[in-house]
Amino acid sequence: MCGIVGYVGTRVATSVLMNGLRRLEYRGYDSAGVAVLSGGKMQILRCRGKLSALEALLAETALPGNLGIGHTRWATHGRPSDENAHPHKAGPVAVVHNGIVENHVALRERLQAAGCTFSSQTDTEVIAHLVDEALAKGPKPLVTAVCEALAQVEGSYAVAVVSDLHPDEFVVAKLASPLVLGVGEGEVFVASDAPALLEYTREVIFLEDGDVVAIRADQVEIMDLAGKPIVRAKKTITWTAAQAEKAGYPHFMLKEIHEQPRAVSDTLRGRLLPDTNDAVLGDEELPEVPKRVVILACGTSYHAGLVGKFLIESTARIPCEVDLASEFRYRDPVVGPGDLVVAISQSGETADTLAAVKEAKGRGATTLAICNVVDSAIARVCHRVLYTHAGPEIGVASTKCFTAQLAALAVLAIHVGKRSGNLKDADAAALISELMHIPAKMTETLQGLTGMKELARKHVHARDFLFLGRGTSYPIALEGALKLKEISYIHAEGYAAGEMKHGPIALIDDGLPVVVIAPLGKGYDKVLSNLAEVRAREGHVIAVATVGDKAIAEYCQDILWVQDAPHLLQPLLTVLPLQMLAYAVAVARGSDVDQPRNLAKSVTVE
Ligand code: F6R
Repeated sequence: MCGIVGYVGTRVATSVLMNGLRRLEYRGYDSAGVAVLSGGKMQILRCRGKLSALEALLAETALPGNLGIGHTRWATHGRPSDENAHPHKAGPVAVVHNGIVENHVALRERLQAAGCTFSSQTDTEVIAHLVDEALAKGPKPLVTAVCEALAQVEGSYAVAVVSDLHPDEFVVAKLASPLVLGVGEGEVFVASDAPALLEYTREVIFLEDGDVVAIRADQVEIMDLAGKPIVRAKKTITWTAAQAEKAGYPHFMLKEIHEQPRAVSDTLRGRLLPDTNDAVLGDEELPEVPKRVVILACGTSYHAGLVGKFLIESTARIPCEVDLASEFRYRDPVVGPGDLVVAISQSGETADTLAAVKEAKGRGATTLAICNVVDSAIARVCHRVLYTHAGPEIGVASTKCFTAQLAALAVLAIHVGKRSGNLKDADAAALISELMHIPAKMTETLQGLTGMKELARKHVHARDFLFLGRGTSYPIALEGALKLKEISYIHAEGYAAGEMKHGPIALIDDGLPVVVIAPLGKGYDKVLSNLAEVRAREGHVIAVATVGDKAIAEYCQDILWVQDAPHLLQPLLTVLPLQMLAYAVAVARGSDVDQPRNLAKSVTVE
């Protein structure tokens, strides 16, 4: 997610804005900019690259003034470039924005038909034009114009808006993207994240969804979109700056685990069309309905691909193969026209996945990237891109990018299923409706995962772990084992539960914790039999089970509960306790959770 800062008071605005943006640098960004008002005149500086590039611009052109807004952008719509950097200007208005305007295409078309000219590829620019349009209809408070504009916007936003028609104030608003006000003596600070303002004040107001705020140096007026006043309590932040970067969590990984409901909502946002029982990938359709889908990926992204196979084959009835990119590229693979090759990569830079997808493209396949980083190498190479909107992932062990990839694959499966004619309207409607409930179920599941510390303490000295699952739970068994290995350095294996009796059963004794993913639904009875086999050999069973399952307790020592979901979507929930387990065990062993040894966030070597 991008960073937002804003200031009005007596200090030099650029200095406060740049300090705040520097505090948000750890989140990653690709461009930055500021807009400052002085004597009724607005000046904007923005550029692609690091804050040092913006500082160099500021050294050439000083921006005097005590009111301004600033932004660090992490691209979602439109590549990283000077033109796409925020603030975006329309007439007397400038806007910085975090989030996604779902209906930006329709709004852009309407505004263009009304004579507006756009100078960026961003979704944000429509907000600037909408506010400009509202102001052009006749004099009114800036906050009224912002409310009129936002009433037309579908999606998520944290926005800050300045206008040189209103030299003493700026307006912010929030919907599903964080925003916090810092209230000082005769000055007000705004930021998307608390670390940006802790240097100046610890008295803050966390805004709620739907809040719009008119801000002057000596006055903060909070209201809803209809202009009705709202009172929000001030809080005093006691976190250190380092804690604040992690929103109070001890590690980025834990923060990112808890961000997953938001990441999944953002990935689904605007792509599910319940009115037509369809899903869209973006502005462009795939050139044809594929005869076959081939998924290429590494590590955690490969596990997402394995779930993707279930999604695509069940909904589209199109054969789907999943390959490790590092194997595919050296195998003289049979791939070509008629195939859709999907490269999944959170970083978009993984050398093996990049080489594999280039190989497939060279042989005539249509290629689609599922990436989290806009304009990354894999996104650029592929014919089409489906971006996950998980926001920057800082913990090396991937969590929120994984569940966002699962959400993107579900969108792809519905899209291809509809076009193949194999996904009936009623089935599409049911899947879309279930998907829309997933973020709330993820939140409930995470809230229910108490007692992880005690569970971790029991197994802190285990030498090995076994993870078992069937169907869509099998890739999650692989992912659970990978997460544990990566951050706790305990050896772990993931296995298809039905394969246990073909070998791994020899390992089972009272020293081996066995994590069995056993949600209610397809394959459940068979997994219970596997559980019984483990119990009969004194293995210590930790079950991942559906809330309300009364039978499971008899088969296991510990239970990690998840909410109910259909088989195809269960991975979005069943992976959560496994991420939490890996995290808790790693913390109990004193590992460096966010920077595990020997691992890198982006693997750009073969
Ligand atoms: C595990 C993890 C790695 C990556 C793998 C591929 O937590 O993060 O296994 O999934 O290196 O990376 P991307 O998705 O960037 O291609």
